[in-house]
This record gives sequence, structure tokens and C-alpha cells, in this order.
Amino acid sequence: MEDLVRRAVGEHVEVETVVSASLWNTTLDPHQLENVVLNLAINARDAMPGGGKLTVELSNTMLDDTYVSAAHEVPPGQYVLLAISDTGTGMTPEVLERAIEPFFTTKGEGQGTGLGLSMAFGFVKQSGGHFRIYSEVGHGTTIKAYFPRVLEAEQTLPEPVANEVRGGTETILVVEDDPNVQATVVGMLSELGYQVLRADNAESALAVMKAGVRCDLLFTDVVMPGKLKTTDMVRQARALLPDMKVLYTSGYTQNAIIHGGRLDPGVELLSKPYRREKLASKVRQLLGAKEAMPGPAPVAYSHLRAHER
Ligand SMILES: Nc1ncnc2c1ncn2[C@@H]1O[C@H](COP(=O)(O)OP(=O)(O)OP(=O)(O)O)[C@@H](O)[C@H]1O
Ligand SMILES: [Mg+2]
Repeated sequence: MEDLVRRAVGEHVEVETVVSASLWNTTLDPHQLENVVLNLAINARDAMPGGGKLTVELSNTMLDDTYVSAAHEVPPGQYVLLAISDTGTGMTPEVLERAIEPFFTTKGEGQGTGLGLSMAFGFVKQSGGHFRIYSEVGHGTTIKAYFPRVLEAEQTLPEPVANEVRGGTETILVVEDDPNVQATVVGMLSELGYQVLRADNAESALAVMKAGVRCDLLFTDVVMPGKLKTTDMVRQARALLPDMKVLYTSGYTQNAIIHGGRLDPGVELLSKPYRREKLASKVRQLLGAKEAMPGPAPVAYSHLRAHER
């Protein structure tokens, strides 16, 4: 993931990865782990506006009885430790105390949902692990995630089929308030052959559609500043253009958009940050489908289910 992390934090942050030799094995969902690492890296970036250093470490570690009795809920034993450290602002004791609370954020409107750390915490717990935050104002923060060692042999996941990068010629309206992200997405979609329109917020997106432009797909950020909420814009847009497909994108997984566990037919979500291949296949999947179909099952790691407790 080193490349992805580097791109996420930007050039002013130095990234160092330290992976111990003979690392033990643990069982977890690699996609969720990837998401968590990126979320933590982005938190670190946000804490280092003037630049700094991000260190990602993987090592084997023992949690002994003394540690465990202090931290109760975790059994003593062998763990694989993922530690992510930054040299940023750190957190005050008040912030630290509430940091993993869902929706707790110190970031401005449209900047953060406060779900990053709570998701990371949830994932580590769900993996049978243990999660700690160490932070000191003015010095930085270290997030430690301990995953229980398993003695099973390593399992290699089949690589996703490489022919997924397919483009098209349909019209896509990109709604994104961050100009850099917007430019990147517009660039990627144009390269894939699509006709691309852009809007900076929900109001102007709706104006484009009301003007009679036929869009085949609306690709919109979930969290944007502005009076009109994204979900309301999408509702009105689908009334205007019932055949139009909708692809949401968000840095914050499903929860905010999926109520009652499912999206409307013809509506999908792509979690940020995503690779070009992922964008291409998601767009193609939506546009190619004659009618909305549920996303493909994650066949690649269905074996994980068998080991869940
Ligand atoms: N590495 C860090 N350094 C300093 N403060 C942090 C760090 N990570 C998290 N925080 C603090 O904890 C709060 C909650 O973090 P969390 O990742 O849950 O939400 P967020 O980053 O605000 O929003 P989101 O992750 O949804 O974009 C942040 O708003 C910030 O105040
Ligand atoms: Mg965050």
C-alpha cells in the first residue's frame, strides 16, 4: 500500500515503513484493513499541515498479563502490531477521550464526518484485536492496532482479473467540491473515453440536469458544503432522469448513505480513495447493467467467512 499512502499524504509528508522480518500471520479482511490504514494516514496528514513524518510499522509483539490486566478486555498472547505514527499536532486530553466516538470531529463542516477512527476501532475489535491511541500535544500521535496471531499458513488472494479497465462513451456528470479531486476524476473518466461534465456542488449539478442535459451517470461526492444536501439533489435528479445511474463517492463508508442496509436500485457507492481500475469497473458495471444489479460478491475472500468467530 506504500504507493497509495504516499499519494494520500502528499509530498510534504515523509513516509517511512518499517516491517519486521518473520512477521507472524493474522486473519483479517484485507480491503477493510486497506481502508483503515488510509484513514489513519489521512488523519496524520491533516495533523501535519506544515509537513512532517508518517511512520508505518509492522512487528510481532507479546501482550503480557501486566499489560492485559490494565487494559482488561484483551487476552494475553501474541499479536501482530500495526503502528501508525505522525509528528503532527497531537490531541488534547479532551479530544483524545472522545476521538473514537462516532461522529466526533474537530474538523470543519464538510471536512470530516468523525467516522475514521470509530471505523478503525470497530474493524480492529471485529478482528479480535486491540486498539490504542497515544498522543501528545505538539509532538504527535501513534495509533496501535494489535491483531491476534494465527498459526495458519498465509493465504494468497487471487488477483482481480486484469481486464477490468474498460471505458465507454456515455455522459457522466461529476459533482465534487474539492478542485483537485474533481480534476483527477474528470481526467480519469475522460481518458476512459467518457463525455464528462462537472459541477462544484449539488445546486449547480441540479441546474445542469434541469437545463436538459442528458446524463447517463451522476458521480457525486456525499459530503459537500452548500444548502442542498447531496441525497436531496440525487432524489430530484432521479425524478428528472429516471434512467440515470448514480454513483456516490465518499471517504466515509456506507453508513451515511445506506439506510436500512441498502441503496436504491441503480445507486452504488465507491469509497475514497480508489484506484483508477476500481473507478473504471464500477462505472462500467453501473452503465453496462440493463437494470440495477447488486454489486459482485467479494468472491476473492469468501474464505474469510469460514474463519469468523
Ligand atoms: N493523527 C491525529 N493527530 C491529531 N488529531 C487526530 C489524529 N487522528 C484523529 N485526530 C482527532 O480525532 C478526531 C476524530 O478523527 P476521525 O478520523 O474519527 O474523524 P475525522 O478525521 O475528523 O473525520 P473523517 O475521518 O470522517 O474524515 C479528528 O477530528 C481529530 O481531532
Ligand atoms: Mg479521519
